Amino acid sequence: MNILVVGGGGREHAIIKKLKEDNRAKKIFALPGNGGIAADAACLGGSATDIPAAVAAAKKCAADFVVVAPDDPLVLGMVDALEAEGFACFGPRKNAAIIEGSKAFSKDLMRKYGIPTAAYETFHELEAALAYVETCPLPAVVKADGLALGKGVLICETREAARAAVRSMMEDRAFGDSGATVVIEEFLTGPEVSVLSFTDGETVVPMASSMDHKRALDNDQGLNTGGMGTVAPNPYYTEKIAAECMEKIFLPTIRAMKAEGRPFKGCLYFGLMLTPEGPKVIEYNCRFGDPETQVVLPLLESSLLEIMLAVSEGRLAETEVRFSERSACCVILASEGYPQKYDKGFVITLPETGTDEQIYIAGAVEKDGKLLTNGGRVLGAVAVAETLPNAVDRAYALADRIHFENAFCRRDIGRRALRALEEQ
Ligand code: AMP
Ligand code: GLY
Repeated sequence: MNILVVGGGGREHAIIKKLKEDNRAKKIFALPGNGGIAADAACLGGSATDIPAAVAAAKKCAADFVVVAPDDPLVLGMVDALEAEGFACFGPRKNAAIIEGSKAFSKDLMRKYGIPTAAYETFHELEAALAYVETCPLPAVVKADGLALGKGVLICETREAARAAVRSMMEDRAFGDSGATVVIEEFLTGPEVSVLSFTDGETVVPMASSMDHKRALDNDQGLNTGGMGTVAPNPYYTEKIAAECMEKIFLPTIRAMKAEGRPFKGCLYFGLMLTPEGPKVIEYNCRFGDPETQVVLPLLESSLLEIMLAVSEGRLAETEVRFSERSACCVILASEGYPQKYDKGFVITLPETGTDEQIYIAGAVEKDGKLLTNGGRVLGAVAVAETLPNAVDRAYALADRIHFENAFCRRDIGRRALRALEEQ
């Protein structure tokens, strides 16, 4: 089969490497791909959000199957456009991707179907939002309705901060049209868990759970980032909690989307908070997480290609999805200064990887046979081991064998998870 994967980050590198394990994956193309992905797929360059270009690429590559990985092309309707031209795809259509594309939509869905989430109000008018902020409980969580590169959530301890957040989104349009509508919600507490799931619209199969580390610096200090590292499984996510989530969150969400005439096919990501009152949904994403995918897919023992085909053809219930009992850790090496200003163009030296080690490249270009840094998050060093402590040690040992000028990483990825394990 010829397979086209849309996207060009570490997540897509992990997806491509896993797809390649199936002998049926004859040729893999990436749009745009990156300098590191080029070792595993033919990279086409261009933009992941250019829908006509994706359709043209699928035709040119004679793609038998297309995987659309990032949120923006999904929300824009890339799968609809590809399907209209007869291409089989993995990824939700536009009317289902809205579960990530509009927080107002997803909050209303949860309210209507009784799915546990933070209490909230939605505002389309600046004056009404400002009036609400004068009386709402604090801290208040102010969220831009639309996609905002993971930055559209502001936790406000004071009314003044909440007023400023509302103004920056609705008046100054700090996140463009994504902030035309805002959701203001109750602040929840508890450990966070990411659960990615496969679903064909009828059946939902959760993958191994994971824990992201969103802040740039150790001890959860510094700015929010796309994610500085991950571990899987997440020790807070016990079997009991998993069963509760299946009954109260996962199945009700899949059924709700179907009932709304928006069946969700693809990877649905549940961002959960384990609050004192039980698990609640913090956010839905219509796609694989980055860098969650980099720790979850190495634990998948079944064929990713077979599962993705089954999702696309609506036969997930009959398909084997088996995860290893082992643990994985991903340490992101980023460019100093990320998530703000940083320099790029430094030579990356990569070591040989051993068994149970992977390096997934996110921000790099190839030039004259050399791999150069080209982004904030440059790569992920991943190790799989029998236990979580060993996976963490091995991921750091691998990260320390990778070199480029300007590199930085958090030194505490997995620390909170290890503490939770000790407390059990
Ligand atoms: P989101 O983009 O919705 O995932 O939000 C980004 C991050 O903000 C989450 O991973 C949480 O750490 C935090 N967050 C979002 N909503 C809430 C909430 N209602 N209470 C506490 N923290 C939140
Ligand atoms: N790592 C968080 C996300 O992919 O949204």
